[in-house]
Order: sequence, then structure tokens, then C-alpha cells
Amino acid sequence: MKYDVKDINLAEQGRKRMEWAEQEMPVLRLVHERFVKERPLEGIRLSACLHVTTETGNLMRTLVAGGADVLLCASNPLSTQDDLAAALVAFDNIPVFAIKGESNEVYYQHIIAALDHNPHITMDDGADLVSGVLKQRTDLIPSMYGSTEETTTGVIRLKAMAADGVLNFPVIAVNDSDTKHLFDNRYGTGQSTIDGVIRATNVLLAGKTFVVGGYGFCSRGIAERARGMGSNVIVTEVDPVRALEAAMDGYRVMPMEQAAALADFIVTATGDKHVIDAADFAAMKDGCIIANSGHFNVEIDISALEKMSVEKRQPRAFVDQYILQDGRKINLLGEGRLINLASAEGHPSAVMDMSFANQALASEFLVKNKGKLAHGVHALPKELDREIAALKLKAMGLAIDILTPEQDHYLNSWQEGT
Ligand SMILES: NC(=O)c1ccc[n+]([C@@H]2O[C@H](COP(=O)([O-])OP(=O)(O)OC[C@H]3O[C@@H](n4cnc5c(N)ncnc54)[C@H](O)[C@@H]3O)[C@@H](O)[C@H]2O)c1
Repeated sequence: MKYDVKDINLAEQGRKRMEWAEQEMPVLRLVHERFVKERPLEGIRLSACLHVTTETGNLMRTLVAGGADVLLCASNPLSTQDDLAAALVAFDNIPVFAIKGESNEVYYQHIIAALDHNPHITMDDGADLVSGVLKQRTDLIPSMYGSTEETTTGVIRLKAMAADGVLNFPVIAVNDSDTKHLFDNRYGTGQSTIDGVIRATNVLLAGKTFVVGGYGFCSRGIAERARGMGSNVIVTEVDPVRALEAAMDGYRVMPMEQAAALADFIVTATGDKHVIDAADFAAMKDGCIIANSGHFNVEIDISALEKMSVEKRQPRAFVDQYILQDGRKINLLGEGRLINLASAEGHPSAVMDMSFANQALASEFLVKNKGKLAHGVHALPKELDREIAALKLKAMGLAIDILTPEQDHYLNSWQEGT
């Protein structure tokens, strides 16, 4: 079996950490148990391009339990957990192509290895496999059942491909499930981004000014958690509705250039480009800490920062300190790549439980509906989304009310008034 991981001897540690994560993934465990019995993915070759974390390890094992022939590569050069990559190779016979810190060149070699697996299904976090299929391997399309996509930025790229008329197979936008973006993006990114900033810097958040770029699902989670740590939080936005929500949630709202002048920390999570640019660097205080938790490393204009700097140091792992001409220091975390995966461990397992139950059910859905789905981007049916939420509630020991027949009738009729 071909694979490319940092050190196969890390496997035992990776296996233990994968088991630890699994305890917090009861919904995925139920899917796993059913997959063992029903084998819905029998005979399916599946290439996954995801953050190679312990939660992803549990998803890969579930897909294998369902009968799939799985290959995994990284969806980001800095997010791989090398021990987990080794564990999947050594204990589960899953070919993994992922090394933390791999160069862009190696990253794309690993994408090619995933495409060479001749997948019937691709599973993406950021649409890199689908891009690879459309740019280099259109020969794979006739035998493809479709693809699944994990994140907001990937869904945006896929919708652009569909609008261009080039996306000629179905893709399930897992991010569009309520049990994904309402929980993973908000609570997962919220907690793990703060975790990443703290692990990289060990700087106190209480009493500091913390600027959050965006007020979407991820960024509102970050704002909420930063406030919980005692920071004074400022939000920047381009969407007036989201900006208004932020204002009414009690945050100060202002343009980035003004916020940059006040910030001790700035974290972006917008999916947009150059949210922090040269004018913002020029406005920043000495010692400002900046990071990104959006999918691609384009949110901070790092090349502008390089040009404005006379020196670059590395005072700690995951911190690049840029010295400007006037002596001010700007600290960039994790090379501008998603900080929650670069310097921490990504989302807690309990939220990935639902995201990855969605992924497993999405691959089963593609197999069951082979040839029936139109080309383009689809959401998973609402019943599956609700089923995942119901299973999660049950696992958390929470019961809820059930509509009575009278209430059901009332909610579906218009005749009754005051
Ligand atoms: N770090 C992670 O683990 C993780 C997890 C999930 C999603 N993501 C990524 O995070 C990014 C955001 O995802 P989301 O689900 O929150 O998206 P979203 O669409 O809900 O929110 C993005 C917000 O950013 C705002 N925005 C866009 N350009 C801006 C600008 N120049 N300045 C200020 N605000 C701007 C938008 O108006 C929107 O409100 C995406 O790239 C997504 O793929 C990361």
C-alpha cells in the first residue's frame, strides 16, 4: 500500500487520541454500527480531502465499516495531525497522504494521489478534489457518483463552478445542513479558534480589545467566546444585516481600519480576500496579534505585510513577528492559515460528530441516488438533518416535547385566529 505520512511510529499515540475523540462522537458511532450491518458503501472507492484530525480518523473508519475503499489526503498543509495519519495507515490500512507543514508542491502531489485512487465519490473540505477532477481528471467523471463538501468556502467555489456550467456531477453541500453550520461553524470554530490563539501566544484575553472580521456563523462564534474570556469585542462586516445583528448583540461595529488602530487581537473568518490589508497594518498598535480562521490563507494580505517590514522573527512556534520601519511589531499567527487547526487541534469532537454524521449519510445518499440527482449543488434532505439532531439530543440525555395532533393541525391550517 502506498502512503505518505511523517512517521509511522507515531501510530500508537494517534490510535489512542482517535479513541479519545470517539467517546464524544455518539451520533457517528450509531451510523458506524448501522454501516457495519448494512454495508451501504460496498464496492465504492472514496477519496477524502479533509483536515487530517482524530475526528476525521473516526469518519474514515465509519466509511470503511460501510464497505468503502477509502484514501485520505490533507485539505490544508498545516492542519494534519501526524500521529493520526500514521494510525490510519498502521491500524486501519487506509492510505493517507498528509504531512503537517508539507510544501504547496507536496500538498498538490497528495491531491493527485487522491485522484489516482479513481474515486466514485470525492469528499472535500474546500473543493480541491473537485477542482482537480474538473481541471486535470475529467476522465473520472463518467464513473463518479458525486461529491460531498464540508465547508462554506468550498460550497461557494462549487456554486461558482455550477454557475459556469462546468460542474457536471451532483455535490452534497454538507455545510448547508443545519446540524453542520449552526454548530460546527459557530461553537466549534468559536472554541477552537480561541484555543489556537491561546496555544500560539499564551497571552491574556481579559481586558484586551479583540477584533473579529465578519459576523457569519464562524465569526459570531469567535466573537461570543472572546467576549466570554473578558475581551472587549469589535466586529467588522460588509453585510448591513449581519453588522446590525452584531450591534444589537452588544458589540461595537466599525470599519477594519478604525478597529485595527484599537486592536490587541484581530481574527478574521469571512471566506473573503485581504480583509486585513496594508492600510490596516499601518494603523495597528505595536504588538498587535493577527490570525485567520477562514478556510484559505488569503484573508490577511501577508505579501503587503512582508513588503512593509524590515525584519521577520519567530519568537514562538506559530508566531511570525514582523518589524515595521518605525519599530512597531505585528505578530502573525499560523502563517495566516486557519489558526484553530494550525496551532490547536481543530474543532472539539462533539461538534464534528454531527458534521461527520452528515458526511457519512451524504456518501450513502449519493450511492442510493446514483443517476437520479441533477448536476450541481444539493443540500441533504431535511429529514436526515433532523434525524441527526434528534440522535444528538438523545445522546446528550435531552428529551423534547412532541407536537400533539391538535397542535400539528393548528400549525398546518389558517382558519383558526384569535
Ligand atoms: N476554522 C475552521 O475550522 C472553519 C470551520 C468552518 C468554516 N470555516 C471557514 O470560515 C469562513 C467563514 O465561514 P462562515 O460559515 O462563517 O461563512 P458566512 O458566510 O456565514 O460568514 C462570512 C461573513 O463574513 C462577512 N464578510 C465577507 N467579506 C468581509 C469583509 N471584507 N470584511 C468583513 N466581513 C466580511 C460576510 O458578510 C459574512 O457575514 C469560510 O472560509 C469557511 O470555509 C472555517
